[in-house]
Amino acid sequence: MDTGLTTEMLPAGEAATAAAARCLAAGGLVAFPTETVYGLGADATNPTAIARLYRAKGRPAFNPLIAHVADLAGARQIGRLNARASALAEAFWPGPLTLVVPKGKDCPVAELATAGLDTIAIRIPAHPVAQAILRAFGRPVVAPSANISGHVSPTRAAHVQSDLAGKIDLIVDGGPVAVGVESTIVGCFDTPLLLRPGGLPRESIEAVLGAALARPAAELDADSAQPLAPGMLASHYAPRAVVRLRAANLEPGEALLAFGPAPLPGAERAVATLNLSESGDLDEAAANLFGYLRALDAKAPRAIAVMPIPDQGLGEAINDRLRRAAVARE
Ligand code: TXA
Ligand code: MG
Repeated sequence: MDTGLTTEMLPAGEAATAAAARCLAAGGLVAFPTETVYGLGADATNPTAIARLYRAKGRPAFNPLIAHVADLAGARQIGRLNARASALAEAFWPGPLTLVVPKGKDCPVAELATAGLDTIAIRIPAHPVAQAILRAFGRPVVAPSANISGHVSPTRAAHVQSDLAGKIDLIVDGGPVAVGVESTIVGCFDTPLLLRPGGLPRESIEAVLGAALARPAAELDADSAQPLAPGMLASHYAPRAVVRLRAANLEPGEALLAFGPAPLPGAERAVATLNLSESGDLDEAAANLFGYLRALDAKAPRAIAVMPIPDQGLGEAINDRLRRAAVARE
């Protein structure tokens, strides 16, 4: 869908912040950097704006959105934080953590944004550009990743432009993001659940909770009408090319997404090679992940072969995104 909109791109700064706040207030769609990935923002209290947002992304309407606020006071206006949620908020906000909590009594966030659930996902991003826009606007902003639904999440303004130019009003360019995978989502229920591994490692969260985080019981998929964590669509974060995980060698015609210093047998015949982190640093690998998937995909390889990546720290989020990228699509 190209609505024929002219998408303005502005470098981050005071003028861009003011333009973003004006645009949001007028029901517009603004892409802006957070420390995890670029988000596509809309006024969380404006159902018409949110409907435009779903349409621009081509997003299934049952998939609810994260409400972004500038500070803890803003969070408490829309959700009820129990002791556990408050402890996590204290420890990690602002930062790459989203908390799912019961909706507040007078929560002004539109039903369309929460897809009719009685819970709400809340995040306080740390990125100075996101913070400036949230403060200037003064209301919660829903912001999914600023990509076409199912595509790889954008870690730079150019990625947003290639997916959404002509469909949104404004892109605020704040350079490449620092974390590179989406926020970790924790459901603050009686048993706290890790709904999505992400930019804050599980280990850090468990240390604050003093308890292990459970994963949701069932594997959730795109066909499920009422998924517990509705964003967990089986195929998500997907490049166009086939993705082959835990590759131990390289097949002809494949591109290589490498990790660590050890070479892969046959690597010299790769159509293209990018190494997520030569030194095996998982934080560096997370920051490179989506940009490198896009770059290798652009070479139209037979498949993208991915070397094994350890499951600790941000490795859990990286492997989660790679598994979703590898799910076959029609
Ligand atoms: O890092 C991030 O979280 C980025 C930046 C822009 O903040 N945003 C992001 O949003 O990744 P999105 O829309 O791509 O992912 C939101 C996830 C989805 O998996 C959605 O199903 C889940 O949050 N979610 C939202 N509300 C929920 C709720 N009430 N209960 C369970 N899951 C929820
Ligand atoms: Mg997304």
